[in-house]
Amino acid sequence: MTASPAISEVSSASTSGVSTPLTSISSVISLPSQIPSRVFSPLITHAIDLPSLRSMPSAQALLAVICTYARSQGKNFASDEEYTPAPEGFVDWATRVVGSGLDWIEDEDERELIWELASKRIAERCGRTAASSMEHEFEVEGLDRSIMLHEPSLTADSLGLKTWGSSLLLANRFSALHGDLIPASGRRVLELGSGTGLVGIVLGVLGYPVLMTDLREILPNLKANMEKNQDRFGEGGYSLDTNVEELNWQDMEASETYRRNDQFETIVLSDPIYSSEHPQMLANVVNQFLEYDNPHAQVILELPLREKFVDVRADLWRKLRDIRLSPAKQDLERGRDDFGEETYFWSVWRPIQYIDNPIDIDSLP
Ligand SMILES: C[S@@+](CC[C@H](N)C(=O)[O-])C[C@H]1O[C@@H](n2cnc3c(N)ncnc32)[C@H](O)[C@@H]1O
Repeated sequence: MTASPAISEVSSASTSGVSTPLTSISSVISLPSQIPSRVFSPLITHAIDLPSLRSMPSAQALLAVICTYARSQGKNFASDEEYTPAPEGFVDWATRVVGSGLDWIEDEDERELIWELASKRIAERCGRTAASSMEHEFEVEGLDRSIMLHEPSLTADSLGLKTWGSSLLLANRFSALHGDLIPASGRRVLELGSGTGLVGIVLGVLGYPVLMTDLREILPNLKANMEKNQDRFGEGGYSLDTNVEELNWQDMEASETYRRNDQFETIVLSDPIYSSEHPQMLANVVNQFLEYDNPHAQVILELPLREKFVDVRADLWRKLRDIRLSPAKQDLERGRDDFGEETYFWSVWRPIQYIDNPIDIDSLP
């Protein structure tokens, strides 16, 4: 789609004669490059204020409204209060826009942009799982630039295509405390179920060599995110020593890291259990790759306290104990992701022989 002179002149579009204060739309959504970051944000309190298609509103007027109510993007995980609330009837209006031929708008590129963005607004209101692909920006405390992650549209069984709340909490914790959490031994850190890569990339920025792993279908996006951020941070003088490899917990013997007989001092996991089979699989993988005879050996884990998973969590604690690990540190914290606010549990597990006062696993949430 080429830049449209008509759209690039959007700066003072009037919509339906209502008051139109200027707002920076780019604070809500990254606009396609052909739309300037400052366009009129119409003050609309009721569906009746939305521009009627019968009045044949200009492309600028339609885009001003459509961009005002963007919800899908923002830094980290924006709460609903951070979006401009759309008036009741907005989805019906956007549906009419998508269904309209927009015949009075001559420029085909403009019409297509309007249809595309109106469809996006509808999808955003059908929940995160219906949203289209996005560039998600994460600001991690203490880093001088943000992490950019591509999140493809979700398919039911590919949860690694979106970034989960645990990973932002864990990334922040590593950034705040990394010297205290992971020794600067130069040893490669193993991450299991890396997803879109936030935790592994942040560890890379902090100077740790990291092997990020996941299922085969997650890897292309994970690798692209890793490379994009290697470039982003490379411009700031950072050199990220990060790699991506397939490691399926159900078939770890097929992984390169198994064939190399790798052992890791630190294994990191963010939000890894959402099936009753995961605890045993993870215990097998950790048991294989953790360097038990190293007094610094540790498994660092963050997960949300989802109500439905009380039994699966209890099983994970038992399975970790069965492989001779014990919690050495733990913490509860509040966080959020695309699905709202949640309590998260962070813990560090160590081989039992190195722990003086092990925490009772029955006390864990
Ligand atoms: C809820 S997501 C969390 C992703 C990422 N760690 C985060 O916090 O954003 C769970 C991750 O575990 C991965 N996963 C699930 N089953 C797996 C398996 N059998 N082997 C390897 N990874 C698996 C998923 O692909 C996904 O990336």
